[in-house]
Amino acid sequence: MLKQLILNLAFAVWNFIVLCALTFYYFFEAFVLTIFPFLKKEKSLKNKTVLITGGAGGVGQELALRLARLKANVVVWDVNEKAIEKLRTRISNDDLKIRASVVDITDRHSVYKHADLVKSEVGPVDVLINNAGIVAGQTFLEIPDELIEKTFEVNVISHYWTIKAFLGDMIQRGQGHIVSVGSLTGMLGTYKCTDYSATKYALNGLHESLSTELKTHGHDNIHMTLICPYFINTGMFAGCNPRNMSMLEPKDVAKRIITAIKREESFITMPFIARLVLPLKHYLPTKLAWAVMFRVIQGPQSMIGLNSRKDTAAA
Ligand SMILES: NC(=O)c1ccc[n+]([C@@H]2O[C@H](COP(=O)([O-])OP(=O)(O)OC[C@H]3O[C@@H](n4cnc5c(N)ncnc54)[C@H](O)[C@@H]3O)[C@@H](O)[C@H]2O)c1
Repeated sequence: MLKQLILNLAFAVWNFIVLCALTFYYFFEAFVLTIFPFLKKEKSLKNKTVLITGGAGGVGQELALRLARLKANVVVWDVNEKAIEKLRTRISNDDLKIRASVVDITDRHSVYKHADLVKSEVGPVDVLINNAGIVAGQTFLEIPDELIEKTFEVNVISHYWTIKAFLGDMIQRGQGHIVSVGSLTGMLGTYKCTDYSATKYALNGLHESLSTELKTHGHDNIHMTLICPYFINTGMFAGCNPRNMSMLEPKDVAKRIITAIKREESFITMPFIARLVLPLKHYLPTKLAWAVMFRVIQGPQSMIGLNSRKDTAAA
């Protein structure tokens, strides 16, 4: 009994010492790499197979073109036939190696069928970028029920199908990378985003839980990246009028996502400062948090003009 107690105590002290050492080391590492990001090791994406959902849209297309120029084997899935056609024309004009297919990622049978085709005709997928997304762009009572379901199907549930289609092979090969394109609205709910914001919060949970499972089972060479950007100038948030900074450009977001993949970063916000500021909402008095939201961030005022888009897959 006493022996067991001493052993438990010794183990707790040892754990405490290790944790102190790790705290010092990881803070130091994060500090140095934040100040000198070029010190981070970057993996090459040459000849790697990268699959991008929603790859014919604003950010997705930028990703596809940039990755193809880096000599990756790019596979694009998108539900929008016209956008896929335009992308195909661009691919042949620029002589790039991109395979573009019309796939509705909310249809899991279609996802599994096309995943098998990619595996047999292109090879195993090294990087999966879950990028497709839609927003209803209406206030809570205005959003038709079917559109709420659609937003969840495209923005979250489809991730289960695409990840299931490729994760098994990644585990078998002992390598892989899964990227989720989230949003700052997944860290701070905002006006006209009751469908969208909820799906992006859900993505955070999926990302964290799956990362935990992979780490617990020792799959340290399967990396996960969650990227949460501010407004991007693609038309998805047309009609919004951001107050504190201008919209991001899709090319800058694509560049940052590619850097995050190469550096195997797990969590990115754009801009960086958002990851420091947004968690403050948990510590401020609720009324003050709202005053900051309304008077400083001016979130609702920025979003009030958001148009519900008719050209998304959900329309
Ligand atoms: N635009 C912004 O302000 C903004 C801000 C933060 C995060 N994001 C996120 O960035 C990602 C890319 O958005 P974007 O701005 O490039 O939008 P976009 O509308 O230009 O592109 C999205 C693409 O997803 C495709 N898509 C929709 N439903 C699909 C389905 N069922 N199956 C396959 N493809 C489907 C669309 O056809 C479109 O080509 C999304 O996840 C979005 O939520 C966007």
